[in-house]
Amino acid sequence: MRIVLLGAPGSGKGTQAGLLVERLGIPHISTGVLLRSAVADGTELGRKAKAIMDRGELVPDDVMLDLIEERLGRDDVADGFILDGYPRNLAQAEALDTLLERIGQPVDEAIQIDVDTDEVVERIALRAKQEGRSDDTEEVVRNRMRVYQEQTAPVADHYARAGLLTRVLGQGTIEEVLARILGVLEMRDADAAR
Ligand code: AP5
Repeated sequence: MRIVLLGAPGSGKGTQAGLLVERLGIPHISTGVLLRSAVADGTELGRKAKAIMDRGELVPDDVMLDLIEERLGRDDVADGFILDGYPRNLAQAEALDTLLERIGQPVDEAIQIDVDTDEVVERIALRAKQEGRSDDTEEVVRNRMRVYQEQTAPVADHYARAGLLTRVLGQGTIEEVLARILGVLEMRDADAAR
């Protein structure tokens, strides 16, 4: 199964993707994780991306497409994948459609995880204390939320138009949210089997 997880910063995409890996046995591909690892390794990509990420802006589309193309070219995606953090604007969504069509791996399901702004702000403030991620400061989070509203939120409509989008409430316990997502995937599976 090829799944795209959508949602605001702090909505729980990474958390849920990690749990879905255990259930579904397919890899979690997070562009945020890939970029942070490039930053930690001090690669050229990492050096370019760090300043952009620390402002809460988006890394350029051509850079992201190269990164995702390389990752989706690996053997472990043969049975599917969970994408988290990509696509993040309409240009990325269209580029991803073209790439997945070319490799014969179209998206099966896009899940939008909806959480109130107050709650995501609270979650990120807590994570800032626990993990100290450099883009979790109040000012940068405000910018990440603005970029999300302006550029990423319309991506949900892209998948809705293709009949692939389901919205899931991302509040409640982590296990409750996981159960909702698994319910959506079971329904998609049952539809596909019909
Ligand atoms: P990225 O790493 O993708 O950050 P993000 O989208 O802002 O998402 P977060 O990691 O903040 O949140 P999440 O939804 O994964 O939530 P999580 O599970 O961690 O991107 C970072 C930056 O990289 C971007 O700003 C950009 O600069 C760049 N970038 C990445 N992709 C790009 C792209 N495609 N194009 C261009 N630039 C790109 O949960 C958050 C917290 O809440 C955790 O502490 C968790 O434990 C907690 N939590 C989760 N679920 C619950 C729950 N149900 N109840 C209570 N707490 C919960």
